[in-house]
Amino acid sequence: MGYTFTLLLALALLHIARGASVGQDSRIRYDNYSVYKIKYESLGQRNLLRQLAEDRNNFRLWHEAKDELHLMISPYGLPEFQAEVLKANVSAEIFIPNVQELIDVETDENSRASSDDFGWKKYNSLAEIEAWLDDILARYPVITEGFVLGTSYEGRTIRGLKISYKSGNPGVFIESNIHAREWITSATATWLINQFLTSEDPLVRTLAESHDWYIVPVLNVDGFVYTHEKDRMWRKTRQPSEISACVGVDPNRNYDSHWMENGGASSNPCAEDYGGPHAFSEPEIQAMSDFVGSIKEKLNVMLAFHSYSQLLLSPYGHTKEEYPENFDDLMEVAKAYGDAVEAFPYGTVYRYGSAAGILYPASGATNDWAYNEQGIEISYTIEFRDTGRYGFILPPAHIVPNAEEALIGITALLDKCKTLG
Ligand code: ARG
Ligand code: ZN
Repeated sequence: MGYTFTLLLALALLHIARGASVGQDSRIRYDNYSVYKIKYESLGQRNLLRQLAEDRNNFRLWHEAKDELHLMISPYGLPEFQAEVLKANVSAEIFIPNVQELIDVETDENSRASSDDFGWKKYNSLAEIEAWLDDILARYPVITEGFVLGTSYEGRTIRGLKISYKSGNPGVFIESNIHAREWITSATATWLINQFLTSEDPLVRTLAESHDWYIVPVLNVDGFVYTHEKDRMWRKTRQPSEISACVGVDPNRNYDSHWMENGGASSNPCAEDYGGPHAFSEPEIQAMSDFVGSIKEKLNVMLAFHSYSQLLLSPYGHTKEEYPENFDDLMEVAKAYGDAVEAFPYGTVYRYGSAAGILYPASGATNDWAYNEQGIEISYTIEFRDTGRYGFILPPAHIVPNAEEALIGITALLDKCKTLG
């Protein structure tokens, strides 16, 4: 009897263990994939390096700025990478030796915390975020209201939360996790929601109660689920291409605003910044357009949450030859955000400028579309922590500090907006 029970228990445990390992095995692994920071000076050098990234199996673009690329490199791609670095005569510095190691640590921390209530010591799944939203809606029925943006390619409901303490407040829209692997964005968005509802700090209360908040914690729901279940490094949507075996479109290149202009997106379906077969080809982005379009008169501010590199990016993304007519204001407001964050205990530094001015041309992005097509004059892409030490796999211990910085920054940003009239 005792023996049978032990045997059954052992079998049951074995079953669970096998289930888990199958689950693990079906995930894409990044053993000994490294991430390099490469500094370059000329366009020729940049192009050589960007060509490397066309080989998606061995090279994946993580981040690009004016004079710097961050590339993830498979162990098989290393010899070619080294040859290319010599040929292009650029300097390369390794800063993540093994991507899988970071993913393993993160997975570990997430599962250790998963018996806790919803919180910000770990990264939550879409199901956990949605259950928490339901809970919020039930607990704050007067102040909160759920809304539905639309349906994703794979049929998921894209949900948002409106927080309004009184009518007639200026409206702030927060779009988050449009890029699937940027988990810190939805963690920050949900933390902000919690603060707006529960904080007793008078400054937070004033901020929360003097604006109407429209917050979409996870816009790219299909991609987000895919990063949790299959490929932690996935960026795009999950709609297949009709002309290629590569899946997905860069949703932040898919808005109908200077779509594909000036090399601001790739026409290669395998590229990380593929703009799609046409503007608004992605149902998630069409849904954003329909919803934001229907409330744009109420919106004063658009904030699109991204990671990583600690930047505030204003329009325009499609060109650095021209600047928005209120560019001086946009910079003053961005400076207020940056100064406030830097003065905060962690001393984190944010840089700011127009997207094309300080990064590279990127067209069809949320903040440009909101500014150009919806008339939302205060419109930014915010790139959260860090600057590359962990990149997209930011340890959960950073969630609260990052979110605190976002709260401080947004407070300063909105205060500065008021002084502009
Ligand atoms: N890292 C972001 C991206 O690649 C930057 C977007 C910049 N914003 C813009 N308006 N172009 O999507
Ligand atoms: Zn992003």
